[in-house]
Amino acid sequence: MSVATRKEPPNLRILKLTFLHFATGMALYLAALAAAVWLVPDLVRLGSARNPEGWILAHLLLIGFATTVAMGASFQITQVILRTSLFSRGLGYVQYGFHMLGFFGLLAGLFADMRLAVAGGACLLAGGVLYAVNLGATMARRRERNLFVFGSGLSVLALLAAMLLGAAMGLSFAYGWNAVHHGRMFGSHLWSGIGGWLAGLILVYSFKLLPMFYVSRKKLPRSSYAIVGLHHLGVWLQVAAQWGSPGPDPGSGAGRPGLADSIGPWLDDIGTILLLIAWGWFAVYLLQVRRLIGGKQPVGAVKVAFWLIPAVGVLFLAWSVLKWAGADGDGRPRRSPPLSSSGGSRGRSWPTCPRSCRSSGGRTAFAARKTKSRRPFCRTCCPKGA
Ligand code: HEM
Repeated sequence: MSVATRKEPPNLRILKLTFLHFATGMALYLAALAAAVWLVPDLVRLGSARNPEGWILAHLLLIGFATTVAMGASFQITQVILRTSLFSRGLGYVQYGFHMLGFFGLLAGLFADMRLAVAGGACLLAGGVLYAVNLGATMARRRERNLFVFGSGLSVLALLAAMLLGAAMGLSFAYGWNAVHHGRMFGSHLWSGIGGWLAGLILVYSFKLLPMFYVSRKKLPRSSYAIVGLHHLGVWLQVAAQWGSPGPDPGSGAGRPGLADSIGPWLDDIGTILLLIAWGWFAVYLLQVRRLIGGKQPVGAVKVAFWLIPAVGVLFLAWSVLKWAGADGDGRPRRSPPLSSSGGSRGRSWPTCPRSCRSSGGRTAFAARKTKSRRPFCRTCCPKGA
């Protein structure tokens, strides 16, 4: 047998790296389920997910499970789609190390001390950058321009933005840095993390995976670029809308409404319409995939995934209609509510600083700052706990 035939194929070469990501993601998924049994009753009682319990559950599911699995899967999928091998397996392991260190640091920090969350966020960001470099170098080496390079590139960009914004919110909680923009960072964090990174990646990979699993003759349509492009444009308009409106969380001291504030609702509306067009168009493509199947229909998870995609689109449509139905008397829509149920300073959640910054913060931002009047001041306004 020649050396060439004995050479390990790329998919096997990175199998351990991929399965390390998968196994970790699955273990953290189980951990999230166990934690949910314990934490969800608390969240229901508090009527808000914006507290350490909610943050831990959200990040266990979205970073621990979804992002870890997505990173591992994207290594394999990129190799298959570009018919090449990953730029560096070693870099993949280093990235995994930073990702895990950052993830557990973040969880510990969200629960106990926001300064630790900042350090965890920085490690997670370092892992995210290494991941982007590895994937980017793999794509650059192949020099192929296609839908998957376009879509996964945009998704990775959104992941980095979500991580940066997360770390910035940690800084704002821990040290009061830019606390006045906390509400805006929060909204942008949710849109870039869930909309840009996770939904964007699911969208672009579905163009490859669904026809494959359905053994469909449906070819990649030209409209696929437009669908992915509209989706990301819609997400970034939603991010921009956060900065053109008074923040979603008045208690976070989002600032006085100004001239730029009038732009926010319009960006929000245009972004919502683009997202609805993208997902409606994608649903048409899904139906065409099913119409052109070759053999037996797949069962189980593939079918569930197939119907989940339009179901999420319908939920988003319902959410948008509800938002528009709640338009102000003059017909101007209200800004989008944050994606998670937001307690902020409105629900129970964390106290609002009674001094100038009016920021609300987590347990650690206030814990040691109780004054004679027993009213907690935040670290920015009361660094020595006066
Ligand atoms: C460096 C990484 C990250 C850091 C440091 C971080 C940090 C934070 C912080 C401090 C909050 C609380 C904000 C507040 O309530 O005012 C938060 C909320 C949230 N983050 Fe992240 N985050 C990171 C990455 C991500 C990613 C990648 C996603 C999604 C894929 C995500 C999804 C969420 C969600 C859904 C919430 C809202 C949770 C709730 O309201 O209970 N985060 N994040």
